Amino acid sequence: MSGSAAEFEAALAALRAGELIGLPTETVYGLGADAANPDAVRKVFAAKGRPADHPLIVHLADVSQVPQWASEFPPAAQALARRYWPGPLTLVLPKAAGVLAEVTGGQDTVALRVPSHPLALALLRAFGGGIAAPSANRYGRVSPTRAAHVREELGDAVAVVLDGGDCEVGLESTIVGCVDGRVLLLRPGRITRQDIEAVVGPLTGSGVDVPRVPGSVKSHYSPRTAVEVVEPGDLDSRIAQLQRQGLKLAVLARRSAPAGTPAVAWITAPQDAASFGHDLYASLRTLDAQRADRLLVEAPPHGEAWVAVHDRLTRSAAGSDDEGT
Ligand code: TXA
Ligand code: MG
Repeated sequence: MSGSAAEFEAALAALRAGELIGLPTETVYGLGADAANPDAVRKVFAAKGRPADHPLIVHLADVSQVPQWASEFPPAAQALARRYWPGPLTLVLPKAAGVLAEVTGGQDTVALRVPSHPLALALLRAFGGGIAAPSANRYGRVSPTRAAHVREELGDAVAVVLDGGDCEVGLESTIVGCVDGRVLLLRPGRITRQDIEAVVGPLTGSGVDVPRVPGSVKSHYSPRTAVEVVEPGDLDSRIAQLQRQGLKLAVLARRSAPAGTPAVAWITAPQDAASFGHDLYASLRTLDAQRADRLLVEAPPHGEAWVAVHDRLTRSAAGSDDEGT
């Protein structure tokens, strides 16, 4: 924890005054607001440039607060909360009466999470209420994993950014929907489908038939530079081909740059999935800042541990295509 006591008090005061804060969590930094204050929640959407009907996650200090926010807490959801809270798991449950439509995007469900970052937990305990917090990036962009990223993304729209250091997970939480007797994986994350099934048995499906998970919009998590995911065996030839076209390249790969690779920014990514996920957004940000014409990412391996990484990479590439370059 690197946040100072003064910063902590300032963040608490800002929340109480209906201002926005940068909230460190173990996944990514959140853009936090008092979840019971409609004006504060509206500021979140304005700062992010996010459509008003995209719901927010409400962060809680403790599982005992769930009944204030959810009208049902099914046994499967309780079992998941017992196993993975505090931690990088979000549960979508039927909402309680009185939960703001600004938070739920007008839906009859609410997303809840007890984060494990010690500063987030300390702030939630001191605040007492729920903190609505999407990732603290502008809509459609790469999520921040360091306090400085939040400032880069949102500037003065945030009253205080509580510096909790580098986010441990680096990818957004796993989202599981527990509604109408079904258990659905809505967004993959560090906690995998197998981890969920180990607690609740086989899942009923994934999120395609469920309303509005903006993370599921195809063009999410995008740097400004066009991203292309390339199979490992094709990387060298693709680099050569694009360089013949005169393009300036930035590369993220799980190996170092071959000797003589000209004029490319190159980041060597970690070998294992957890470290790769931890570094991914910061690396994309660094490479994006090179103002290359193309950002090539060597496709990582497949398998359960890599599902969330592939999900975010696929969306990054889709986002850039949508925008041209
Ligand atoms: O790790 C995380 O989850 C981070 C940190 C800050 O907690 N937050 C985050 O928030 O990633 P955001 O807003 O970027 O993504 C939240 C996701 C969105 O895809 C949203 O649609 C989904 O949660 N969500 C929220 N409420 C929902 C609901 N009622 N039904 C389905 N999806 C919901
Ligand atoms: Mg987000």
